[in-house]
Amino acid sequence: MAETGAAQANIGVVGMAVMGSNLARNLASREGNTVAIYNRSWEKTQTVLDEHPEAGFVAAHDYAEFAAALQKPRAAIIMVKAGGPTDAVIDELVKVFEPGDIIVDGGNALFTDTIRREKAVRETGINFVGAGISGGEEGALLGPSIMPGGSDESWVTLGPILRSIAAVADGEPCVTHVGHDGAGHFVKMVHNGIEYADMQLIAEAYDLIRRGTGKSPSEIADVFAEWNKGELESYLIEITAEVLRQVDAKTGTPLVDVILDQAAAKGTGAWTVQTALDLGIPVSGIAEAVFARSLSSKPAQRAAASALPGPSSDEFQVDDVDGFIEDVRQALYASKIIAYSQGFDEIVAGAEQYGWDIKKGEIAKIWRAGCIIRARFLNRITEAYAENPGLVALVTAPFFTDVVSKAQDSWRRVVVAATQAGIPSPAFSSSLAYYDGLRADRLPAALVQGQRDFFGAHTYKRVDAEGTFHTLWSGDRTEIEAEDTH
Ligand SMILES: NC(=O)c1ccc[n+]([C@@H]2O[C@H](COP(=O)([O-])OP(=O)(O)OC[C@H]3O[C@@H](n4cnc5c(N)ncnc54)[C@H](OP(=O)(O)O)[C@@H]3O)[C@@H](O)[C@H]2O)c1
Repeated sequence: MAETGAAQANIGVVGMAVMGSNLARNLASREGNTVAIYNRSWEKTQTVLDEHPEAGFVAAHDYAEFAAALQKPRAAIIMVKAGGPTDAVIDELVKVFEPGDIIVDGGNALFTDTIRREKAVRETGINFVGAGISGGEEGALLGPSIMPGGSDESWVTLGPILRSIAAVADGEPCVTHVGHDGAGHFVKMVHNGIEYADMQLIAEAYDLIRRGTGKSPSEIADVFAEWNKGELESYLIEITAEVLRQVDAKTGTPLVDVILDQAAAKGTGAWTVQTALDLGIPVSGIAEAVFARSLSSKPAQRAAASALPGPSSDEFQVDDVDGFIEDVRQALYASKIIAYSQGFDEIVAGAEQYGWDIKKGEIAKIWRAGCIIRARFLNRITEAYAENPGLVALVTAPFFTDVVSKAQDSWRRVVVAATQAGIPSPAFSSSLAYYDGLRADRLPAALVQGQRDFFGAHTYKRVDAEGTFHTLWSGDRTEIEAEDTH
């Protein structure tokens, strides 16, 4: 441990739990960085100092000592429990920092909290940056994908430091200045939403293959390992194979069979859906993934419903095993494209609503390594936005249109098979329904408008005339021109 007193650190980290200590170690391991550390309770700081003398940390006992250890402009990354604890740390740092200094919140904050905090901290002349950090514990230590928001001024100091610790994809660090105030945490939120959808889609693929072919988890692990060599190559497919191959030491059975089938959530998926609802963006794949976790975690309802009629899953056995597995792979790829397409729609809508200049291709680029949704096909998303920055729906980019048109027969067969077999596949089927909704010439939304006009005089527009209209439903049912009341 270096002596405190002189301002010798170029970056500080507050919060020495797993994420903060790993991020601090990552920073310390890079050329040119000296890292000041602080944790509310000294024990954690002492443990980190004892276990990692090689890091040369400058450890502080209080906030004043922490500020004194940092070179100006000071820059500190907060990695504490999101919510109240983050506010508590900001309040303390504001007391000891000066105008021009930078406070970074690297936790999983709700972007509206980040907007509020940025506004409040800016009044003191101190910069506040909300930075989404993805990659879990390992990413924090070895190289995460980083999504910082905040001011241009803070990026001048932070850019080189964050570039030094980020994951690298094709020689490029996975970090970019996403946009101002809450932009970074907004993009991180959507990243997590896409992660929910991706995980649910993979889980549905596994379930269908297991029930349709009778293959064991370890055999299905081989299928996923094979898929990981092709266009589906991604971190989530890779770890799925690992999880399916794991045998429980206690029982000798596949671990996946002894894990309680009730999925938990920490809330970022729900935030993505809530925000999408406010913005009016259909993120049906993400929403179904969040709801699927909620349904799984309702044991009383599931027990009560277990005798309800429906096909018995034992009766589902496909004839052409290899053909079915290929159909599921295609359905997964197409549904995954929809999930990303919907996520990018939400980012575009958020950027419009909050005035952020978010470069979609750059976002796809910084998700290529370090983060949980890292995947080979993110390169294709970057290319699609580079070719056409005004692309209104990712799925309409030539590359993705081609993939979906090749996959759609398989996709439909899988959804039909799942429905007939009584196997829930909410993410597969909602993605297909979204796709068909998007490409439809005409939607039954016309009838919905008619119903709304009937009971609430909400008016409608016509396909053949300008203006807004209302039918006198409780009168003689003639049509009149009306004021648009939506
Ligand atoms: N775990 C992950 O994989 C992951 C991935 C991405 C992002 N994140 C985000 O990263 C942040 C840190 O995560 P984590 O898992 O390392 O830690 P955590 O369990 O979320 O939080 C524990 C840390 O918060 C500090 N803390 C709690 N209340 C405090 C308060 N009122 N004032 C000051 N410090 C307080 C604790 O200090 P004491 O030791 O004194 O209690 C401890 O250092 C969170 O926002 C999390 O959402 C986590």
